[in-house]
Amino acid sequence: MRVLVAGDRGYIGAVLVPLLRAAGHEVDGLDLGLYEGCDLGPAPDDLGGRRPRDMRDVEPGELEGYDAVACLAALSNDPLGDLNRAATFSVNLDGTLQLARAAKQATSHFSLTEGALAEVRARLTLRTGDTDAHRASE
Ligand SMILES: NC(=O)c1ccc[n+]([C@@H]2O[C@H](COP(=O)([O-])OP(=O)(O)OC[C@H]3O[C@@H](n4cnc5c(N)ncnc54)[C@H](O)[C@@H]3O)[C@@H](O)[C@H]2O)c1
Repeated sequence: MRVLVAGDRGYIGAVLVPLLRAAGHEVDGLDLGLYEGCDLGPAPDDLGGRRPRDMRDVEPGELEGYDAVACLAALSNDPLGDLNRAATFSVNLDGTLQLARAAKQATSHFSLTEGALAEVRARLTLRTGDTDAHRASE
């Protein structure tokens, strides 16, 4: 399969990408590079020329040809959420939904960790006050 991993330079992505490649998949990464220089292990060898990319800006056309999109991109810890609530909503809710919608339009499978899915649902509820709000985004 051809797979795009968003957040490939993070804690989980750094482990997942080599595993997917070892299993025979063709994998590309998309990452804002927030932790540039603090990679877990050696930086990915395909970074040459690759620019930081924000998943909030991804358009469906960019996902054409991918069988699957895995979203690991996030602001992923409680202190960050406390420090800048708006940024966390913007990335973890709006960015995740943007990527999911783009993947849906490009007819790629979209996957999210269980924790990230729970967070999207909780943030939609917080924003709208509607406990069923996540259904509208499915
Ligand atoms: N680490 C864990 O133990 C764990 C456990 C369960 C679930 N999760 C979930 O898995 C996902 C990944 O976790 P992690 O520990 O690898 O996080 P991480 O913080 O190590 O990595 C996140 C990556 O996303 C990138 N990123 C952030 N905002 C971006 C944006 N707007 N566009 C593109 N890239 C962006 C960052 O540069 C970083 O490389 C998160 O949703 C997290 O909640 C993590």
